[in-house]
Amino acid sequence: MSQVPSAVLSCHNLGKSFGRDRRRDTVLADINLSLQQGDFVTILGQSGGGKSTLLKLMGGFLAPSSGSVSFHGQPLKGITPKIGMVFQEHSLYPWMTVEQNIGFGFKVRGELPQSYRNRVQNMIEQVELDDARKRYPHQLSGGMKQRVAIARSLVVKPDVLLLDEPFSALDVQLRRQLQAFLLAIWRETSTPMLLVTHNVEEAILLGQRLIVVGDRPGQIIAEVSTAAAEFRGRYHPKFLKLQRHLESVLEYNSATADLEYHPEETASAWQN
Ligand SMILES: Nc1ncnc2c1ncn2[C@@H]1O[C@H](COP(=O)(O)OP(=O)(O)OP(=O)(O)O)[C@@H](O)[C@H]1O
Ligand SMILES: [Mg+2]
Repeated sequence: MSQVPSAVLSCHNLGKSFGRDRRRDTVLADINLSLQQGDFVTILGQSGGGKSTLLKLMGGFLAPSSGSVSFHGQPLKGITPKIGMVFQEHSLYPWMTVEQNIGFGFKVRGELPQSYRNRVQNMIEQVELDDARKRYPHQLSGGMKQRVAIARSLVVKPDVLLLDEPFSALDVQLRRQLQAFLLAIWRETSTPMLLVTHNVEEAILLGQRLIVVGDRPGQIIAEVSTAAAEFRGRYHPKFLKLQRHLESVLEYNSATADLEYHPEETASAWQN
């Protein structure tokens, strides 16, 4: 497949297997995906389907078994602070306070605390963690930890942000508040975002483009444009129709013929 020149982050025929010989398990196969400036792509898929593995490959945390990942047109060789990653399991440093966790990206770059203190403080205010600045992760709720993880990734202004179920532990109110926060950042900065979620409503609402990763091996089984205005309102009839359709794609894992991946048809059918 030819490479899209303006892609910030892309993968080409990407595959990943774990184990050896007869125990070899192909988790992902032939994934082609491209993120350009201003893209917001959401990924849906069943549990164990390979979504976290895909994000780890695209973030340089895992090496592909086949295919490749490109960052600004160059092969991705490993992790880089320019690719922000919010892991499913928070991954905060337990021995660091909220403030230190959020400032960690600057510290590893060798910047002095006085040079980044204000940026960290602004970010703490944006995620409303002012009162928790000096607390350690074990003293935070699940939602607070998730906010620290998001803040830590955003504060260093990455070129692209990969988010693995960042809002899964939150109640509806906080989830909506943080969705709005993330969208505001995206609109303001055009940072390309790739967000994994189990929540069909969230996947439609947040993204401009939605991808469903099927199971065994994980492949892209559906791709839908969700950029139109009706997909910004969770009670719009077209929104609800797409939601039901995606739920059936997930349930049947595209097993029925009419749910197979026809990108042109699917995109135009849902855009009208
Ligand atoms: N390091 C590893 N070694 C062996 N198998 C792994 C490894 N990482 C993931 N797997 C396997 O790959 C499959 C996909 O895992 P992955 O975490 O990517 O799924 P997921 O789609 O993110 O699931 P969930 O929605 O539950 O988070 C699982 O069967 C898992 O056991
Ligand atoms: Mg996962």
